[in-house]
Amino acid sequence: MNRVVALIVAAGKGERAGGGVPKQFRAIAGKPIIAHAYDRLAQHPRIDGIVIVAADETQLREALGDRPLLAVAQGGATRRLSVRAGLDAIEALGGADIVLIHDAARPLVPSAVVDRLLAALEQASGAVPTLAVADTLVRKDDGTLADRDALARVQTPQAFRFADIMTSHRAWNEAAEPTDDAQMARSAGFPVALVEGDPMLDKITRPEDFALAEARLGQRLFRT
Ligand code: CTP
Ligand code: MG
Repeated sequence: MNRVVALIVAAGKGERAGGGVPKQFRAIAGKPIIAHAYDRLAQHPRIDGIVIVAADETQLREALGDRPLLAVAQGGATRRLSVRAGLDAIEALGGADIVLIHDAARPLVPSAVVDRLLAALEQASGAVPTLAVADTLVRKDDGTLADRDALARVQTPQAFRFADIMTSHRAWNEAAEPTDDAQMARSAGFPVALVEGDPMLDKITRPEDFALAEARLGQRLFRT
């Protein structure tokens, strides 16, 4: 398996983060969040090129400066449709062997996580980074405990064999919108492996998450 393309979805409005400008175009440590994500992926030796899905290409190009892109695709109304637009753009470029689908709102991508994802794809059709849940979990309706040990938090990038995730997107016919691509791969019958994620990959969702990401960026631990 050789050609690896990273697909960054950046067409959301960032409503929960507030602040007007969509979160992926705001800066942490003096650099737009999407540029952090781009740089972390682009520096990985196995990643051959990057495609980004955006709502406004001018805004995207302003944030990225002269960083090269294989393609820019127009975002859709949901994350699923934005990913689909990106997959179609990759197919139009001649396809890929592997695609790493990543949220622009996760600026810090440790290369060790990418290594684990790519290693897992030697067996599985897809691979996703996960983290254990630290807090006790209860059901909101009746307060009963959920089995924390049976659950994990799912992050991105999520790695897939390109042909399989394309098939999964084409086959998707459920009423509910999926929040990630692994749900779609599993629904289409493709095995998805779980690999160890990293707290660095936590998504910027709410206003307080910007400062947390900036602090993590400054940590000595974040070398990779
Ligand atoms: N995304 C996208 N197209 C959409 C919706 C989301 O490309 N129609 C992207 C976002 O830009 C983000 C990622 O999917 O990088 C994860 O989505 P989320 O964190 O929910 O971002 P937003 O939808 O922008 O935020 P919110 O739900 O708070 O409005
Ligand atoms: Mg959203």
